[in-house]
Amino acid sequence: MNMEAGTSKMVSNATGVNRQWLLARRPVGAVKTDDFRLTEGEIPTPGAGDILVRTLYFGFDASQRIWLTDDGGYMPPIMPGDPMRCMGIGQVVRSNDANYRPGDLVEGFMSWQDYVIVRSDGPMPLRCLPKADYPISWNLGVFGVGGLTAYFGIVDGLKVKGGETVVVSAATGATGSLAGQIAKAMGAKKVIGTAGGPEKCKWVVEHAGYDAAIDYKNGDLSAQLSKLCPEGVDAYFDNVGGDMLDTLFLHMAPKGRILICGAMSSGYTDVKLQGPRNYMRICTHQLTMQGILLFFYRDQIAEGAARLGQWVMEGKLLVEEDMHEGFEKAPSLLPTMFTGKAPGKLILHVADPA
Ligand SMILES: NC(=O)c1ccc[n+]([C@@H]2O[C@H](COP(=O)([O-])OP(=O)(O)OC[C@H]3O[C@@H](n4cnc5c(N)ncnc54)[C@H](OP(=O)(O)O)[C@@H]3O)[C@@H](O)[C@H]2O)c1
Repeated sequence: MNMEAGTSKMVSNATGVNRQWLLARRPVGAVKTDDFRLTEGEIPTPGAGDILVRTLYFGFDASQRIWLTDDGGYMPPIMPGDPMRCMGIGQVVRSNDANYRPGDLVEGFMSWQDYVIVRSDGPMPLRCLPKADYPISWNLGVFGVGGLTAYFGIVDGLKVKGGETVVVSAATGATGSLAGQIAKAMGAKKVIGTAGGPEKCKWVVEHAGYDAAIDYKNGDLSAQLSKLCPEGVDAYFDNVGGDMLDTLFLHMAPKGRILICGAMSSGYTDVKLQGPRNYMRICTHQLTMQGILLFFYRDQIAEGAARLGQWVMEGKLLVEEDMHEGFEKAPSLLPTMFTGKAPGKLILHVADPA
């Protein structure tokens, strides 16, 4: 049912109730389910420039744990009493922004609620999703934060070239699984991933198309790198930091490049981390080390998504989702980012479009 509402059109909602997962208290260490509390609130009324969206999918990102710290990292901290912020996909219910219409499917910053007020002027664009013959949830994965960060990290950050040896850590993750495949698409000679356990290493090679995988939980990472990369690593896509980054420093080829994308090993419980010990390799091997934050590519998202789409159509990228069902599951899924979730993009399906 469509109906006029003030200056904007309105699409009816399914329930009239707005379930919300609010932060009950600031987590200490790993996130626990009782750090959040389930409540029901009013469906909010959009003000000038606001868009009311009914949420359909919640994406899970390790950085959500950073937003729960006092500092918040690169985003304002989520305060007790606030709904938990996430990247999400939703359907516009009512819009006071001329660029969005009721019924549009959108992707961007949302929160763990049935209904959210969003705006187009946040740190990432609120994207209107194209009508397409692939699942809309892919806009959180391969065409979302993970895929786009992998794309810009490999293509622009590391500038991977033909014939190079590339290592990607957390290679079963939403970002890492695609980073290796993109490196291959860019012509890398050898792409090696790290993952926890033999099953995950098998997945990295057999499904994500890496040339080899190193089980960082069993065995000697340094010895494996010596064996697999005797001439050194040209480009390292670092999702893990900590001891793994320190070990990689010792295996970088002269003039190698390191991209700092994340620090999974920290658990993101604090923004103040211990820096690497072996950083003098930057000097002695004339290495380059730089970071990536997807926000800096805000204006190139469409270009990145188009290139990723081309590779998906050509069969060069495997799209893997770790899909779950049910609004109530949100808090229990968040810690699995750090405790060995299944390969691919972790997504919670909460509703279907009207
Ligand atoms: N800078 C940016 O703009 C940006 C954007 C997106 C993501 N990121 C970062 O990229 C990284 C990966 O994100 P994602 O979305 O791909 O996450 P993801 O899908 O949850 O994958 C994370 C992977 O990290 C591995 N992991 C967890 N704890 C670990 C530890 N202590 N040591 C080594 N590996 C560990 C897990 O694999 P195993 O089971 O194999 O350990 C897991 O599959 C995160 O650090 C995230 O913050 C950064």
